[in-house]
Amino acid sequence: MINIAVMGYGTIGSGVVKVIDINGESIAKKVGEELNVKYVLDLRSFPGDPIEEKVVHDVDIILNDPDVKIVVETMGGVKPAYDFVKRALLAGKSVATSNKELVAKHGTELLEIAQEKNINFLFEASVGGGIPIIRPLNQCLTSDEIYEITGILNGTTNYILTKMAKEGAEFDDVLKQAQANGYAERNPAADIEGFDACRKIAILSSLAYGSMVDFEDIHTEGITNISAVDFKYAAKLGRSIKLFGTSKKKDGKYFALVAPVMINENHALFAVNDVFNGILVKGNVVDQVMFYGRGAGSLPTASAVVADVIEAAKNLNNNMMKPWKAEKLALSDISEDTKKFFVRISGVAEDKKAEVEAAFGDAEYITIDGLEEFAIITPVMSEAEYKAAAAKVDGIINMIRIEE
Ligand code: HSE
Repeated sequence: MINIAVMGYGTIGSGVVKVIDINGESIAKKVGEELNVKYVLDLRSFPGDPIEEKVVHDVDIILNDPDVKIVVETMGGVKPAYDFVKRALLAGKSVATSNKELVAKHGTELLEIAQEKNINFLFEASVGGGIPIIRPLNQCLTSDEIYEITGILNGTTNYILTKMAKEGAEFDDVLKQAQANGYAERNPAADIEGFDACRKIAILSSLAYGSMVDFEDIHTEGITNISAVDFKYAAKLGRSIKLFGTSKKKDGKYFALVAPVMINENHALFAVNDVFNGILVKGNVVDQVMFYGRGAGSLPTASAVVADVIEAAKNLNNNMMKPWKAEKLALSDISEDTKKFFVRISGVAEDKKAEVEAAFGDAEYITIDGLEEFAIITPVMSEAEYKAAAAKVDGIINMIRIEE
């Protein structure tokens, strides 16, 4: 029997206990031994819950128990998760976590400790919920030079954007549904302002490019400026609006960005709707690989955590994930990156055409009956050129980048 402890009995932690309960027999066959949840650490007690007797409130009970070989961290946030996880690793216990904030901020150090101790620090569930993406990047796509990762990496915002597009739903109502479904972060600003997707693309990029990508270096925009009117234009254009986290190597430079984008139906991520996430990885020999599945929610995310526990149990004294280099990857300013831009402008298109053309050159115009505004799609230009052009036009309402 292999004893584990679960730190944090919220949406994911309770899912972990459930998954081990539902699939205990088949998991035992895969591990070669039964997995036993010996402790659940939480500030709360859970009277009447099957784990009631296992609840502890003092982390030292877990850290000082040599019988506990693997610790699951599903508390979220950096404090006190970082301290608990670091101490667990230093005590020789492998750790499986779903905590993207922790991995993005302290992953380098925690991977290094696990390597020194010849144990494992695993974080499959930190990106893409139930989608296998960390292990594929670490084990399956290793013969490639990866030059781009583009993903819909946040289930909550994808759920909101899908409902806005398909049902014309209001932002706040859909956010409440996402929270009720257990998709949203405790502070939903992390979802809707793009911070969660930012941490996830930083983790994937660190793995893919082999050097630490600092999430604080990534230009991040959320979806709070996206409105029902944007979706009217998107529908007219046969396009969709998604929140992308992307990083790419172009002409020897690395760029990373989290922002809403307009994509057309030929884009591989066009059909990724609701809480689902999709991650497109491009490599110089494999070409393109796509990963798809539920990006949030209790059981799908717990599925990935428990898969890590199984891996750790099968490799108790065998470190499987080498750390990425601690040296920061230098990201270039996105102002050098080029694309087309969708821009909404107040007023009448005919009246403003000269002003718009003088600033943006030859643009495509889109009008919708009944609106006192119009939109354009600019020619391909750099972010810096876009900014300079936009400053010359009065009445810009919103801009969304276009990804082909
Ligand atoms: N709030 C996150 C999301 C949870 O919506 O994607 C999964 O990381």
